[in-house]
Amino acid sequence: MTVQTILKMGDARLLRMAEPVQAFNTPELHQLLQDMQDTMAAANGAGLAAPQIGVNLQVVIFGTGQVNPRYPQYEPVPRTVLINPVIEPLGPQEEVDWEGCLSVPGLRAKVPRYSRIRYRGFDPLGQPIKRDAEAFHARVVQHECDHLIGKLYPMRVRDFSQFGFTSVLFPGLDALEDD
Ligand code: NI
Repeated sequence: MTVQTILKMGDARLLRMAEPVQAFNTPELHQLLQDMQDTMAAANGAGLAAPQIGVNLQVVIFGTGQVNPRYPQYEPVPRTVLINPVIEPLGPQEEVDWEGCLSVPGLRAKVPRYSRIRYRGFDPLGQPIKRDAEAFHARVVQHECDHLIGKLYPMRVRDFSQFGFTSVLFPGLDALEDD
């Protein structure tokens, strides 16, 4: 188990465009995924992108297969490794809901995202993935894939009156924060 340090907002490495993975099913890729899984689990995250541990590759993981204690009000999202992802909105509809990020500890904001998306990419063996997602699942995928283009959720906020400290907004969730 190797829990890596999660980079925090302000670190320039979070602002880069990530590079595509060129080789699948390699020891290096499996090691990266193990580190990401260990790091996400230790932080009770709903997802993690490789750039958050300083690795500039188009790799995200998300989902827990069970209700996440940081997001107890949401449906479980399938455990997924998604490599070299591409997201396509399925219609112009957006919805606004609360997000947090392990790279922005202690804060939450209401963030607009597409309601329904189709996402494609590859699993660790290089097998294609293609899924349609909506609601929280779609939100998590859009949030994680934003990390691959140097975007953190505060850059997507439109209404800054709905941006604040988790301890103030959601007192009961404070103990679950990792900072
Ligand atoms: Ni994040």
